[in-house]
Amino acid sequence: METKIYSLDDIDEAAAALKAGQLVAFPTETVYGLGADATNVEAVSHVYAAKGRPSDNPLIVTIADVATLTRFAQPLSDKVKTLIDTFWPGSLTIILPLKPNALSKTVTGGLDTAAFRMPANNATLKLIRTAGVPIVGPSANTSGKPSPTLAEHVYHDLKGKIAGILDDGPTDVGVESTIIDMSTEIPTILRPGAVTEDQLADVIGEVRGNKHKVGANETPKAPGMKYKHYAPTAQVTIVDDPTDFAAAVAWVSSHNSKAGLMATDSVLSQLTVPDSVEVFTLGPDVAAASHRLFAGLRHFDLETDVTAILTQGFSTDGLGAAYMNRLNKSAGDEHFTNDKSIDK
Ligand code: TXA
Ligand code: MG
Repeated sequence: METKIYSLDDIDEAAAALKAGQLVAFPTETVYGLGADATNVEAVSHVYAAKGRPSDNPLIVTIADVATLTRFAQPLSDKVKTLIDTFWPGSLTIILPLKPNALSKTVTGGLDTAAFRMPANNATLKLIRTAGVPIVGPSANTSGKPSPTLAEHVYHDLKGKIAGILDDGPTDVGVESTIIDMSTEIPTILRPGAVTEDQLADVIGEVRGNKHKVGANETPKAPGMKYKHYAPTAQVTIVDDPTDFAAAVAWVSSHNSKAGLMATDSVLSQLTVPDSVEVFTLGPDVAAASHRLFAGLRHFDLETDVTAILTQGFSTDGLGAAYMNRLNKSAGDEHFTNDKSIDK
């Protein structure tokens, strides 16, 4: 199958492909998503196949107007209405209890809830309105790989497997939406993102954060949390204290590995980096770093021969929670500690 690149002038054509049951990747302010008509079971099953996604990992339903919600979800509580008024369109995915049989179990993984999101991207809102159907929207990467922040990343992972990609340039935020479960007694954050715990608590009161780690025998609340994520081929190690970078580079070299380094401009400017080390700047701050994290991981994999990627850690304040959540997953929780430098 030839995978087309749709420009913003081709939204009608992309919408027609969706309506006909084909897969079209779409831009959002967080990462690119892989779209299919959420009411077409066969189309949705092709999304799992194209991504290589485990079939028990449910999908987000991406919508362009709140009215669509009432078709699928139980009547909205006041808190849910407040979240919608405050954060939509935007980087908040809301888990809601469903009406019986409102969505196929191919979308929900058999749960009696579903995840809904209205992204802040005008091209995609227009795409959904033109297609006239809600679309499923997992990130448009091969399962396990970093989420795509450019149409080129989608093309790399999914070319030949999907009908097309609506290209709206680089995404703004760079990490996926915050997920809040509103089907539980106390609203619970299942995945941190650009909408922070404090922002949520400010408008709806008590919110349970995502501090709790899922044990091996527990069923995770967001099924996707149990899978390996965002992992480039090279091993990622987190450097929490920027003054450790020199020691971390020496540690990588002592293992005959080739190092790639991801850090902010100010950290890089204070570091003498050996010529053999590949460098990718994370920009000035944690917002820029979140925007560039997945692109950096892909850069090292595709354009360099590094075997170890040392990446700067941040505090988990604000957007730092989302950044560190994704970085910890891509690193398999591997952090540099100074005693590593005396490892053999
Ligand atoms: O920013 C985003 O949310 C992007 C863009 C494309 O919209 N989408 C995205 O989708 O990140 P995905 O499928 O990669 O992540 C959705 C997560 C998965 O971990 C899934 O397990 C969880 O949401 N999820 C979906 N439905 C759920 C439900 N009913 N209950 C709990 N978790 C759910
Ligand atoms: Mg994903």
